[in-house]
Amino acid sequence: MDNNPSTPAGFPTVRLRRLRQHPRLREIVRTTRLDARRLIQPLFVRPGRGVRQEIAAMPGQFQLSVDELVREARSLAEVGITGVILFGIPAEKDPQGRDAYSDSGIVQQAVRAVKQSLPDMLVVTDVCFCEYTDHGHCGVVNEATGRADVDNDATLGLLARQAVSHAEAGADVVAPSGMMDGMVGAIRRALDEKGFSHLPMMSYAAKYASAFYGPFREAAESAPAFGDRRGYQMDPAGDPGQALREVALDLAEGADMIMVKPALAYLDILRSVRDHFGGVPLAAYNVSGEYSMVKAAATRGWLDERSVVLESLTAMHRAGADVILTYWSKDVAAWLA
Ligand code: PBG
Repeated sequence: MDNNPSTPAGFPTVRLRRLRQHPRLREIVRTTRLDARRLIQPLFVRPGRGVRQEIAAMPGQFQLSVDELVREARSLAEVGITGVILFGIPAEKDPQGRDAYSDSGIVQQAVRAVKQSLPDMLVVTDVCFCEYTDHGHCGVVNEATGRADVDNDATLGLLARQAVSHAEAGADVVAPSGMMDGMVGAIRRALDEKGFSHLPMMSYAAKYASAFYGPFREAAESAPAFGDRRGYQMDPAGDPGQALREVALDLAEGADMIMVKPALAYLDILRSVRDHFGGVPLAAYNVSGEYSMVKAAATRGWLDERSVVLESLTAMHRAGADVILTYWSKDVAAWLA
């Protein structure tokens, strides 16, 4: 035994299990606590009335008409979920995705209706074109090549128009997700010009080209008709430093909050963004594939849904996420209550 008093003692003097034995002790030393107020529920809105159509690959999630969406938002508010992010499925899609920036677009209608019925609900809008274009890409496809080659600079003006139109409808936060270079700056300038300099932006800064978005593309009817999104979304095997560059650029262009997406397979990215950018609110998107996997296993009795979800969300929060976008928001609020 080493008797030098300056040497830290080891076992058996030190026993880390002492603080684990008693539930009250475990609680008092806990540093990561989930809170329903950190959660944002994604909702899908489609035309019609009284429509509540379950998404096959996402049991418990629905495409909702505006009236049903308002009902859903009210039931979220009742359990303490105070934020939603809206995705629109327009009646008609075209190469430019016109519904996305139309004053009478599906998301614009939804924003107005939710804000009118529930003024305290934080309404975030996803700013992107994949749900609105007939080819399913996140911007204008380069006519010359006809490939999955989204014309970056031609898309910026349209993204700005879309964001302004969401702001005019009453959105509280706009969230650009298209991974176009310069999109945050273009949107910021347009918002400022139109009198929305106060409107915050949550940028999907580090968004990876992920197979975990599979079920969402059914939910939002936004699967690309040809090609994939690897020409604009990030490479999962790319240098993690790229995520830091994306975040730094978005902050320089005026982003107020930063998102990492997906969440579970990218906890290292969340952690490194957290460590490099103190004081920046950080969000994680617990995406559709992460939801569907657990649902599928839970249905078969292979996993306990509640425990797995709470553990996963705890991991995201522990890795540095202040805010979590999750399809489980309502369940989690009930579980934590
Ligand atoms: C793009 C967008 C996507 C998701 C959120 N915003 C799809 C994509 O990039 O293909 C995915 C969310 C999820 O999988 O839950 N508008």
